[in-house]
Amino acid sequence: MAAGIDDISIYIPRLYIDAADFAEARGLDPVKLQKGLGVSQMAIVDANQDPAILAANACLKIMQKNKLSPEDIGRLYVSTESSFDESKAMNSFVIGMLEQVYGQGAFEHCGGVETKFACVSGSYALYDNTNWIRAGEAEGKHALVVVSDIAKYDMGSSGEMTQGAGAVVMLLNDNPRLLAFDPKVTSTSIKDEYDFYRPFGKETPIVHGQYSNMLYMIQVRKALEAYKKKVISTKLINIEQGETILDHMDYINMHLPYSNMGKKALAYLVRHEWRQLPRWKKVLQEIGMDEPIPKDPRGTIESVLGDEEFMAKDHEFTKLFTKTPEYQEVYESKLASSLIASSMIGNLYTASLYLGFRSSLEFEYQKGIQLEGKRIGFGSYGSGSSAMVFSGVIQPEFEEIVKNMNLEAEIGERRRLTWEEYEELHENKLSPEESMLKSKKEFSLVDVKTETESRGERR
Ligand code: HMG
Repeated sequence: MAAGIDDISIYIPRLYIDAADFAEARGLDPVKLQKGLGVSQMAIVDANQDPAILAANACLKIMQKNKLSPEDIGRLYVSTESSFDESKAMNSFVIGMLEQVYGQGAFEHCGGVETKFACVSGSYALYDNTNWIRAGEAEGKHALVVVSDIAKYDMGSSGEMTQGAGAVVMLLNDNPRLLAFDPKVTSTSIKDEYDFYRPFGKETPIVHGQYSNMLYMIQVRKALEAYKKKVISTKLINIEQGETILDHMDYINMHLPYSNMGKKALAYLVRHEWRQLPRWKKVLQEIGMDEPIPKDPRGTIESVLGDEEFMAKDHEFTKLFTKTPEYQEVYESKLASSLIASSMIGNLYTASLYLGFRSSLEFEYQKGIQLEGKRIGFGSYGSGSSAMVFSGVIQPEFEEIVKNMNLEAEIGERRRLTWEEYEELHENKLSPEESMLKSKKEFSLVDVKTETESRGERR
């Protein structure tokens, strides 16, 4: 049975901090943000928004667009790492808001949980809900998987230039117009790590930036190795001599904590895939380097982790590789269009990968490319750490959804924050009624209560 993504909607806060303003205030070269990280603007939540608000607004949009009623929705999952309650799931806040529109008890028989594993949890939620459909449990109903986050780092930290916020919701069913997931090939890797984590009560994460970059690439590569074995054993893809698995993916969407991370991570995967191929020799000559050999005699993929010197060498190697015409071609044809939205909006943690997917659909379609039948590979990563690699194929009715995609229109009119406004919002100095923008026909936070039965009121 086919199962996959039928439609996708986004909700992005309309306030943003511009990379040029950020660089000026922090005394940085703006080129570091714009070219080094690929960050042009970062979406910032208003004083009357939180991750549940973003999620509910995205859900309302997709339900109204598809004329769905609550009885059509069998499951509503929320994946987030910006949770604000240790036991009450974010779904319940979202359903509470949706029931203000659809009526009390309207979602009574809709199941779902909040899932957490840093940025990868949305991919686990998609996988579980796809299998709920494949198992025949859905009885013709749809699942909503909403990924919603506020990526917020300490003032003055290196992570502060990779912030962002937003929600993406995906409607899943057994007759998807957009993308059907490939069965029996989804692959994972997992390891207890502390590259990025947020202890209880802390609003911002503790981050080991360069270590997290390397770990991301290693974990995704391990998941890709497992994926390769599965596509071969299930005969989903026949990899001929001289080819790699990446040749069979027309597009590749990577987790995007900042847009250049996608470029870097894909380069890392491609160069390791190419090491067995004749074309690799030519690339090596071009960049005048030998492939670094892991120091660890076990030669495991992760043996470079923690070895500063080796990590720097490996990084330099990947960087040189990104400049070769061979990689440029892969980058331009398979990845570049997925990065456009990320550079305009920033990191969305769980939602970053899916904003990238949405971005590639819109901008590839605009080029006039026929997308039907194209295979999309996904490289999902969550700190702490786990990666997931999976794939899907664009369906014949994709155009019904993609032809109306317009990122700028969907975000709405944006407002550029001054540095002082940004600081006030970052330090939570404003109450909901002091929000910078007034909400119209959307959910917003009207009140926040602490240490009472209810954390806040949302309308
Ligand atoms: P940094 O260490 O200050 O930056 O912070 P850098 O020195 O690595 O510079 C960044 C890039 O800009 C480099 O390019 C520089 O060369 C370049 P690269 O070598 O990588 O190609 N650069 C310049 N380019 C032009 N002109 C200049 C200039 N200066 C430098 N003047 C870091 C970067 C990502 C470490 C930091 O922002 C950070 O800690 N971010 C948060 C952690 C993060 O995003 N990690 C990513 C991997 S882990 C992940 O994705 C999971 C996550 O989403 C969380 C989750 O799963 O929940 C974060």
